[in-house]
Amino acid sequence: MTEEVVTIEDHRHAGSGGAARAGTDRPSYYVTTPIYYPSGRLHIGHAYTTVAADFVVRYKRLCGYDARLLTGTDEHSQKIERAARKEGLGPQEFVDRAFEEITRLWDVLDISYDDFIRTTEPRHKRAVQEMFSIAFRQGDIYKGAYEGWYCTECESFFLERQLAGGKCPDCGRPVEWLTEEAYFFRLSRYQDRLLRHIEEHPEFIQPVSRRNEMVSFINSGLQDLCVTRSSFTWGIKVPFDPKHVIYVWFDALSNYITAINYGRNDGFFERYWPADVHLVGKEIVRFHSIIWPIILMSMGLPLPRQVFGHGWLVLEGEKISKSKGNVIDPVILVEKYGLDPVRYFLLRELPFGADGNYSEEALVRRSNTELANDLGNLLSRTVAMVERFTGGKVPVPDDTAGDGRPLREAAATAFRQYTEHFAALELADAIGAVLGLVGRANKYIEDKSPWDLAKDPSKEKELGNVLYDLLETLRLSAVLLSPALTRAPGEILRQLGFADGLAGAKLPEAATFGLLPPGRRVRRGAPLFPRIEFEETPFEGPTGGGPAAGKGPAGQLSTGGCPGARPETAAPSTAPVATAAPAAPEAPPAAPAAPEAPPATPGAAQAPGDRLAFEDFQRVDLRVARVLEAARVPRTDKLLRLRIRIGGSERWIVAGIAAHYSPEQVAGKDIVVVANLEPATIRGERSEGMLLAAVHGDEMALVVPERDVPVGAKVR
Ligand code: MSP
Repeated sequence: MTEEVVTIEDHRHAGSGGAARAGTDRPSYYVTTPIYYPSGRLHIGHAYTTVAADFVVRYKRLCGYDARLLTGTDEHSQKIERAARKEGLGPQEFVDRAFEEITRLWDVLDISYDDFIRTTEPRHKRAVQEMFSIAFRQGDIYKGAYEGWYCTECESFFLERQLAGGKCPDCGRPVEWLTEEAYFFRLSRYQDRLLRHIEEHPEFIQPVSRRNEMVSFINSGLQDLCVTRSSFTWGIKVPFDPKHVIYVWFDALSNYITAINYGRNDGFFERYWPADVHLVGKEIVRFHSIIWPIILMSMGLPLPRQVFGHGWLVLEGEKISKSKGNVIDPVILVEKYGLDPVRYFLLRELPFGADGNYSEEALVRRSNTELANDLGNLLSRTVAMVERFTGGKVPVPDDTAGDGRPLREAAATAFRQYTEHFAALELADAIGAVLGLVGRANKYIEDKSPWDLAKDPSKEKELGNVLYDLLETLRLSAVLLSPALTRAPGEILRQLGFADGLAGAKLPEAATFGLLPPGRRVRRGAPLFPRIEFEETPFEGPTGGGPAAGKGPAGQLSTGGCPGARPETAAPSTAPVATAAPAAPEAPPAAPAAPEAPPATPGAAQAPGDRLAFEDFQRVDLRVARVLEAARVPRTDKLLRLRIRIGGSERWIVAGIAAHYSPEQVAGKDIVVVANLEPATIRGERSEGMLLAAVHGDEMALVVPERDVPVGAKVR
């Protein structure tokens, strides 16, 4: 049996819900996003769910699965009816327009969905009516009258005790008391069965914290659910009582099976159901882990294997949402920074499952540190060394050189961690495992100094091994990052001599260390991730900088009074795990050059004769710090980035000392820093402190403790 080659491109818009596709000998995998309300423009929060789902499905394809991603739009409801009316459009016209816009957005973000379901499509309507009739026939749906607190925005009824200060517990808006004839779904009948299912399948609701919430919600008693409305008409009619329309959650949740031909008996449904994972935001976990399973139980269908509730992207402490008016337009971000940095940020910045801050500065920092400094730099310096030392050809590795080849081991560990994190949907950590390997490879260059090995003919084999292992690390990193980044991995592989980029790569085979054929010609290309200048901070001196004037984040749509994050004061993002930003390999220590700006030490800006109050001086927190690693800031002659330790904590500072000190000269030194300086962004690098140096004319000398003292000691 020949294995079908799965390329990423094959799956873009591969058709919708048609007959079973080729490749059915492969195991199937089915992942879904929520279907989005097309009532307003989608924003970065919606992009977050969708990019995550795309990451998962691309990974599964890379592992050889017949993996399917479904997304779509939730087009019925009173809310849509109203939004259309406001724009002078009929609801169908309104949702058609939104559909065009949303599919354009997914194209911009390279979302490789296999099908897009719209709840206004005949295939969906027909199946929903059928499902409703089945539930009615077996007594799970009955007619009654509903009274309750209703939130129009969330289209949810609430019990008195569920309200938050008399308002909607989900969106905080006022609720109204409603009574109407309606059909009800007997959730109560299935309560015990559902609880049992959750107990027996600990993986069903994830993360665990959400499962616990759901269990206590169910234990508090499930009320039967109102599943129709008669006060508006924009919905799917109850087939046997057409003055009622099927209420949004019954309609919406069903999309996950109507899109895969539920009820058509053509084998397609059986191939993909049950879904492997429904990815949803945390506020809709309840619908997916209570109502949806009960609908399925009523239909006699198996339950999805997992409902995963991810956290929210928040801006200044508030969920980014249309109703809060603080939305960020992903299209503008992509135009400004490119697609890979935006996807990378979304996937890497917040632990999947937890809330996390959105800030444009964090996006730029992620791109500059991990993509440009770590990954991009590893590629450019490795290819440059291969060109210079082995004639541009992949060297032949040779185990007899006896140098241990530690990157082999590191690569195996990284791949294992990557796989384990993926299995738990720890998406940010899966990427972190790859970046850890990239950091290790950069450090390996420093340790091995290939440019020194090249000078010694007896070290030829060792040099060959070092370069080969660096190239292999890059190849593997590109493959492992390919589900996350849709552009750079192909380019990395092209530079390594794979003309077809990623075509045919498959895990776990592609993770075998040593697949790169020796003798292949590498090709130097344009920088993979040009550094992004986020905010040109006025250069205030070589040893640090003051905060720049804040500029609103790019891509923010109408803010409705919600101010943009001030870059320097934005809440700290989940810590960027920046590994060493390596210096150019062959670069000798820079010859002293005249600094472009006069060096500043504390007090240097003060006019002679000015007196500093002692209390003022006491506010300056001077500490002994150890430089753990140092690297040049690319494209400047003046700046070094230093990772320093002060007491038990670490941070990065940017110092204007590169004309006087090479990274090697400062690494390992104990220096004195101002530890409580306002953080600043200098040339796109965050600096959290300033070192002290004595300056005289063209000379500079670092201030260092005269003898050994513990790192973190106070300087007075
Ligand atoms: N139509 C329903 C879902 C029905 S699924 C059967 C819906 N639509 S939505 O457009 O309001 O939201 C869709 C998804 O976007 C949700 O999972 C929601 O959590 C996600 N996000 C919207 N804003 C978000 C953030 N700020 N951050 C992360 N995700 C957020 O709900």
